[in-house]
Amino acid sequence: MLRALASRGRQLKQLRSLAVRGYATEAGKTGKSSLPLILGLAGLGGGGYYAKQSGLLDGLLGSSAIPATPSKDFKPDYQAVRAAIEDVLESNDEYDDGSYGPVLVRLAWHTSGTYDKNDNTGGSNGATMRFGPESGWGANAGLGDARDILEPIKKKFPWISYSDLWTLAGVVAIEAMGGPQIKWRPGRSDKEENGCVPLPDGRLPDASRDNKHVRDVFYRMGFNDQEIVALMGAHAIGRCHADRSGFVGPWTFSPTTFSNGYFTELKGKWHKKKWNGPIQYEDKTGELMMLPTDMWMVWDKKFRQYVDLYAKDQDKFFEDFAAAFSKLLELGVPFEKRDFNTSPSSPKPMA
Ligand code: HEM
Repeated sequence: MLRALASRGRQLKQLRSLAVRGYATEAGKTGKSSLPLILGLAGLGGGGYYAKQSGLLDGLLGSSAIPATPSKDFKPDYQAVRAAIEDVLESNDEYDDGSYGPVLVRLAWHTSGTYDKNDNTGGSNGATMRFGPESGWGANAGLGDARDILEPIKKKFPWISYSDLWTLAGVVAIEAMGGPQIKWRPGRSDKEENGCVPLPDGRLPDASRDNKHVRDVFYRMGFNDQEIVALMGAHAIGRCHADRSGFVGPWTFSPTTFSNGYFTELKGKWHKKKWNGPIQYEDKTGELMMLPTDMWMVWDKKFRQYVDLYAKDQDKFFEDFAAAFSKLLELGVPFEKRDFNTSPSSPKPMA
């Protein structure tokens, strides 16, 4: 059932991205043939960057811009926000492997992974990464790109908080890349710059360190060993960038597909890369990489048992990842409503 929904979501995404690419044709890109259809269906309207990216799809998606100060009967349309996020995911063929999905997942994780259960500070609530010092932390290098990509969506739907938008973008990206459906609900609010108590740097994990460090960081958030390993499975997607972290390369050969590939690769043979950069590991092709903290997932026996489990059983990985990622995005958030059913967690099928 979940897989069927995910596949339905992918079809929907492909249709949308086809339409976006069709419009991009005008600026000299691909997909010329669908342009007249899109124009005919959606009508011409709206200027500015976002309208160029996906505004013409509004007619198709049934969404429209919503006033900044909504009336009391106003019902926020999260499906429209989801659709807008899906539209940007593959809107730039030139970016990395053709998808902003991985960097949006990293944004959702880093905005949430600052949480400390001991004093209830940090976490996604507040969207404090908009400001220094957090925006300037080495660990957050490159995430300005992710925040910028979402800015036109924030402008189009000003009623959504940055903190809801950033976390929802991570969820939508994972689902669109073929991953599990993830429970998500709104309710985060943003802090003003002068209302932020600056967090100490060092709350996010350092890839060059060991299993003790990984446990210290994730136990501080309230996760156990199994949840840690499940969360690490997100390294199936995306890559390291020399100009961001100093590390280089992807973990799998399909960095825009969410799968248990991180675990199957981890079980292979890895050796230290010979280069002048930071210590990282490479496979026999020399194309894939693992960070020292990734290697600890197999060097540490307690972590290793879950690597074995998830390498064998993708459904179990999806189930555990979905639960742990949802928990991560909710750390420290003072929700009013406890019921997930009050907020949509999956894209509506196309009528
Ligand atoms: C010990 C824990 C972790 C460490 C040390 C770590 C470290 C890193 C590093 C160094 C990068 C490369 C950044 C770059 O150069 O662009 C990266 C990328 C990434 N990480 Fe992690 N990570 C950890 C856990 C996680 C978790 C829990 C998630 C999500 C649940 C995650 C999701 C990602 C994704 C999706 C990327 C790719 C980003 C892109 O392609 O732009 N990571 N991580």
